[in-house]
Amino acid sequence: MITLNTQHAFLKEEIKSYQEEVRKHHENLMNKKGVGNDFTGWVEWPNTYDKEEFQKIQEVANQWKTKCDVLLVCGIGGSYLGARAAIEMMNGLFSKKQPEILFIGNTFSSTYIKQLLDYIKDKEVCVNVISKSGTTTETALAFRFLKQFMEEKYGKAEAAKRIVATTDKARGTLKAMADKEGYTTFVIPDDIGGRFSVITPVGLFPIAVAGIDIEALMKGVQKAYQDMDTSDLDKNPAYAYAVCRRILQNQGKDTEMLVSYEPQMAMLAEWWKQLFAESEGKDGKGVLPCSANFSTDLHSLGQFIQEGKKVLFETLLLVEKPMLDLTFPKDETDADQMNYLAGKSVDWVNKMACQGTLEAHVETGKVPNLILTMPDMSAESFGYMCYFFFRACAMTCYLLDINPFNQPGVEVYKKNMFRLLGK
Ligand code: PA5
Repeated sequence: MITLNTQHAFLKEEIKSYQEEVRKHHENLMNKKGVGNDFTGWVEWPNTYDKEEFQKIQEVANQWKTKCDVLLVCGIGGSYLGARAAIEMMNGLFSKKQPEILFIGNTFSSTYIKQLLDYIKDKEVCVNVISKSGTTTETALAFRFLKQFMEEKYGKAEAAKRIVATTDKARGTLKAMADKEGYTTFVIPDDIGGRFSVITPVGLFPIAVAGIDIEALMKGVQKAYQDMDTSDLDKNPAYAYAVCRRILQNQGKDTEMLVSYEPQMAMLAEWWKQLFAESEGKDGKGVLPCSANFSTDLHSLGQFIQEGKKVLFETLLLVEKPMLDLTFPKDETDADQMNYLAGKSVDWVNKMACQGTLEAHVETGKVPNLILTMPDMSAESFGYMCYFFFRACAMTCYLLDINPFNQPGVEVYKKNMFRLLGK
């Protein structure tokens, strides 16, 4: 369901020359012998996920779909990005589906929080607060506002029915609060870190409330698991992609730009950036992940990519079939001189823009391009793609001798902030 094309990548090493190394890391990953192995629960998750909890997720989601105008998802980082990426990719940016899904707990911006609280004032609201640690400050700060808002609006008992907490099965402040208040809780598995958690209740519950078929999503995850159950670089495009990243960094390309031609995939790029940045960016190593949305960003970043310092490679994430399409209309006067496109599909125009850009960046700009192609933006494809990137990410870190599953660096700002806040 995802193919890798390396034809435009200017690779100076053979992908296959990494076969033995990849085989070793694959075995370590599968046998839980690699670095950080206590956080590899996501590897077998396609087979081991709790089916009873999955059903409960669907039940509560179905009730909430008719009960609320707005679902507020309160979380940050791995407890936020996956759900938003999924919902925007699969529903598009102007979805009329009910409920509307809004995100909070991912910023300290007073304006954002106040404006959102004002926006939901007269709406029917449900809340999904998500935090593995249960102590993340952005999330806890926003949730206190939400809890008070819900209790004032609905009374304590009804508010408790409209709040679901997704958190650790036993530990943390949020778990304790949820038990005390009688909230429904879903579990974030101990051995799955935030950035690998979109396929757990962290992502699945809000995705289901957004009206997306989570069974199809998990089917995609399972299919990816089966397809990637091999270390053979000719058969496993996730590992081949990981090797390409290594080779390109060896060639001095320290930045990877994930490029999509669909605005509804912009948040997916944010999710991908977290996955790779938190996993790989440590010990003074790693490829810096950044992203662009074309053709929009061809009118800004395009200049740098074409003629700026040669620090980056692009990874095109292409979708064969758009969610929607339309035919460009004819105009009798042709005052805008656009009739040469009359009768063409807009998606065809988008694809021609992509082809022209690829040619410009590769042939003229000499920027290496990897191309990942997926069939569509369905739930199954989303699930498949998540698992594809999980495997690629773990392999890419093992190839650099890095623990993919910790993020010690993110604690530094928190320590300083707590000192300044007088915690
Ligand atoms: O990847 C990570 O571990 C982080 O981005 C966390 O997901 C993020 O900090 C939120 O943490 P928590 O779920 O504990 O609130």
